[in-house]
Amino acid sequence: MVNLHINGTPVTVPEGATILEAAAAAGIQIPHLCYLKEINEIGACRICCVQVEGEKNLITSCNNVVREGMQVYTNTPRVRLARRTNLALILSQHNCKCALCVRNGNCQLQQLANDAGVLENPFPEDLPSEKQCQWDQHFPLYRDTAKCIKCMRCIQICDKVQGLNVWDLAATGGRTRVDVSHNRVISEADCSACGQCITHCPV
Ligand code: FES
Repeated sequence: MVNLHINGTPVTVPEGATILEAAAAAGIQIPHLCYLKEINEIGACRICCVQVEGEKNLITSCNNVVREGMQVYTNTPRVRLARRTNLALILSQHNCKCALCVRNGNCQLQQLANDAGVLENPFPEDLPSEKQCQWDQHFPLYRDTAKCIKCMRCIQICDKVQGLNVWDLAATGGRTRVDVSHNRVISEADCSACGQCITHCPV
């Protein structure tokens, strides 16, 4: 077992537990967005960042394991600022017309932004082009590229649970986006329209 303190509260958890799991065991909720236990632990969104005594940089709590004697802080001004900045960066690449969105009221990004008090965005809007957003409207599954936050949950759930590998990353650098794998259109992929990607999409 590993002993540590989270926000001053002593916690004992099994070796190999993440900071996020240790906090949950102590009744402390750390906001998170891209994380899906044992499916997506890639630290993409950095919403779950925490401060650890002796560490220069903030670290992600969803994919860093506990160490003996660790002193973790989940809600310092530095952590709150980093969380708000990360949320604003994600929102700058997300179509924020929430009132017109089918996921309005059922969106983790919307909820986290509300909880963190993100009411304005200092970053310029950077949405994908119309061409990148093209989609076969006749296919029973509809994907809106302008809403995608690139958390990779859909890719991982389709690969690791359904074994269909329908999704993958496309393009490089700042233009990287999630799209149908192997440069196919959705009607050419082996999509069974199971809906797992939709169910696990946070937005
Ligand atoms: Fe930890 Fe996204 S939830 S980095």
